Amino acid sequence: MRKVYFDHSATTPVDPAVAEEMLKYLTEHYGNPSSIHAFGREARKAVEKARQQVATAIGASSVGEISFAGTGTEADNMAIRGVAYANRQKGNHIITSAAEHSAVLNCCKQLEREGFTVTVLPLDKYGRVTAQQVADAITDKTILITIMHANNEIGTIMPIREISEVARARKIIFHTDAVQSVGKIPVNVDELGVDLLTLSGHKIYGPKGIGAMYIRKGTFWQPILFGGGQERRRRPGTENVAGIVGLGKAIELATQNMHVEAERLAKYRDRIFKEVMEKIPNTILTGHPEQRLPGHVSFCFRFIEGESMLLMLDMKGIAISSGSACTSGSLEPSHVLTAIGLTKEVAHGSLRLTMGRINTEEDVEYFLEALPPIIERLRAMSPLGEGCNPCACSTCTIHDEDHHDHGELSEDEY
Ligand SMILES: Cc1ncc(COP(=O)(O)O)c(C=O)c1O
Repeated sequence: MRKVYFDHSATTPVDPAVAEEMLKYLTEHYGNPSSIHAFGREARKAVEKARQQVATAIGASSVGEISFAGTGTEADNMAIRGVAYANRQKGNHIITSAAEHSAVLNCCKQLEREGFTVTVLPLDKYGRVTAQQVADAITDKTILITIMHANNEIGTIMPIREISEVARARKIIFHTDAVQSVGKIPVNVDELGVDLLTLSGHKIYGPKGIGAMYIRKGTFWQPILFGGGQERRRRPGTENVAGIVGLGKAIELATQNMHVEAERLAKYRDRIFKEVMEKIPNTILTGHPEQRLPGHVSFCFRFIEGESMLLMLDMKGIAISSGSACTSGSLEPSHVLTAIGLTKEVAHGSLRLTMGRINTEEDVEYFLEALPPIIERLRAMSPLGEGCNPCACSTCTIHDEDHHDHGELSEDEY
């Protein structure tokens, strides 16, 4: 059976060139970068080379602005908590968005428990916040704005440049979680105008368990972990040298081939959108139709239970995810899908397909053949389907009478 991996936003395979580079630092150059002997110096050289690779990839002006961290989650915590605590004397207000990954949202929730005030900005139907919303939320106690660059579930790209202009004008520190955007779309810290930016190795064909934080020179910040003097005391603990080397190589490769790869994946994405919307009624495209990541496709199929759809696709060899996350035994709909206004029922029928380097046109064709019968079968079995009233419009993909807008949501779905 054909195996198709369509879950690159969850994680990516390690590029063989990255693995090859890493292996040397596991078996041969295994020194501790803090040691002064030749083994240590070899490891130190590799860590500093990777730091340069990350700095170059995101347009940082100096390598000193890059610190490695355990994961993307840890980098987010370092950035947010580090700014919050360093600036506590100035104020206690943080602005974020309902689109954020739990690495940011739960970090902000924890800060709330510790006495900070957090404003979570609501999203528009495409999953975006505007610079105006940010400007309106600022108070004289605001010390940090943290808004993600691109969303992991619906692929929407946020207007980071516009938001950073507001932040700059009001002299407020601005962090963006770029875990999903780095290596897929242009990410340049000066063009985006951000003070802090976080990224992760395993989303860009690097290893799991390595992340990085960019911090603009002069940004008021303090460490959140305490120990040895590694990473200029920003992140103590013996460096994960192989992981760092892997991240450096991965980000270099991802940014080198980015434009060609983005164009290729955007073509696949647009083909899937077009054909699925044409072939499968009662389908809602989630996320922004254009302002979205190149390889990112996401839908909600009405009258469908997402987990069953994923299992049936899995039986066909297709690995895909849903916006629904099974937490503590209960199936909770994704916070992002409900934040863009979808009902719980609709959100449960979500599908996220994220393509990457290993995917081909044949994978796309295989998926486009496999999906419609699965949806049809599930709907035939589903009690949820009973209320479906086919629309008289011949081209409409939404079968309720009040849906003539071809994939756009009606007001009552918001
Ligand atoms: C937007 C975003 N931020 C942060 C993370 C966390 O990264 P990591 O898995 O390296 O902790 C993820 C991972 O899914 C993500 O998609």
